[in-house]
Amino acid sequence: MRRNLQLGLLFAMLALLVAIQLVPSGVSNPASEGEVSAPPEIQNTLRRSCYDCHSNQTRWPWYGRVAPFSWAVARDIELGRRQLNFSEWGAYYPLTRKRKLQWMGRALEREDMPPLSYRLIHPSSRLSPQDRAQLERWIDSELASAAASSASKAGD
Ligand code: HEC
Repeated sequence: MRRNLQLGLLFAMLALLVAIQLVPSGVSNPASEGEVSAPPEIQNTLRRSCYDCHSNQTRWPWYGRVAPFSWAVARDIELGRRQLNFSEWGAYYPLTRKRKLQWMGRALEREDMPPLSYRLIHPSSRLSPQDRAQLERWIDSELASAAASSASKAGD
């Protein structure tokens, strides 16, 4: 009797696991609206460490196809893209871009991106001190040229 109950529960759980696979995660890769343009070494780092959550060019990991993990992955991607999307970089207003660059600088300083869980599963996404320094230099130079172009506009 007890045994039948246990078997029944096990089957119910398996059936549930199979059934939730039919719930789509709801995330796709839309077309780019203006990919970030940066020197190749910066592009490489961004693609390697940030693009899965901050671009429209997400590479799906195998666990991202299996519910319930797929829902967690989808949530990260949705939140991540909303905060910062390197595939919409060209479509941002200059002031928005500037703010995102400043956020990036802060996130790098605090070493909280990529998120720890992602770094554990994707060791190659970890940023070395050199990667970080290189990104910081790029951010500084982008901010400086943004400041220069708004100053020259103001002088017109
Ligand atoms: C696994 C997915 C993932 C990866 C990979 C990732 N991020 Fe994020 N990122 C997020 C999520 C999710 C948020 C939104 C966090 C929130 O709203 O609390 C976020 C927020 C941010 C923000 C916004 C504001 C802030 O400081 O909280 C910045 C900037 C950022 N990420 C930069 C980066 C950079 C730079 C990289 C690569 C070095 C990176 N992220 C890699 C998921 C990711």
